[in-house]
Amino acid sequence: MTLDLDLRTGWPVELRVLLERYPREVWQTHANLGELARFWLHIHDGFRRAAVSLAGGAAEFREGRMTPADYRSWLTPKLRSFLGHLEGHHTIEDYQFFPVFSAAEPRLLRGFEVLESDHENIHAAMNAAYESASAFLSAPEADRDTLIRAADRYADAGQALIRKLGRHLEDEEDLIIPLILERGEGQLGMR
Ligand SMILES: [Fe+2]
Ligand SMILES: [Fe+2]
Repeated sequence: MTLDLDLRTGWPVELRVLLERYPREVWQTHANLGELARFWLHIHDGFRRAAVSLAGGAAEFREGRMTPADYRSWLTPKLRSFLGHLEGHHTIEDYQFFPVFSAAEPRLLRGFEVLESDHENIHAAMNAAYESASAFLSAPEADRDTLIRAADRYADAGQALIRKLGRHLEDEEDLIIPLILERGEGQLGMR
């Protein structure tokens, strides 16, 4: 079974051992869902909301409900903040969270390797979104065709990024939250 971010539809059975015991329905009311885990889930939801907002802006512009000037000034800070926060988030996970979690539960090691390679895949998609957005932001406003083409290229790159990120966030939560519920944040050394 391929675990490539662009092809998989969730974890294979051997990486679902804890998820079977702690399905999503029990997460929010479980005593071991501590402050750090709640904060981390909240950060993920922030990325999901930002992704919906970015896609919504692209659609509004495409449908002619936002002028190029308005869309460009709306997009610039939003995209910069989204990409910057996402990059920082991945760094914390790669260097702090994943090593701790995979040492605590070697049966999930393969899953953490997959999540780490997801980050590389997503990083390439972030670069593609950034570069296509830069081309759109610097396209001459008077040249409507070039502007629309550049906006379309950015919208496609943004969609690809959002699709990858959505899959990644869900699988990451499905691997990590059951482990936290099983062990507790304190025992995992999360605080
Ligand atoms: Fe991640
Ligand atoms: Fe994450």
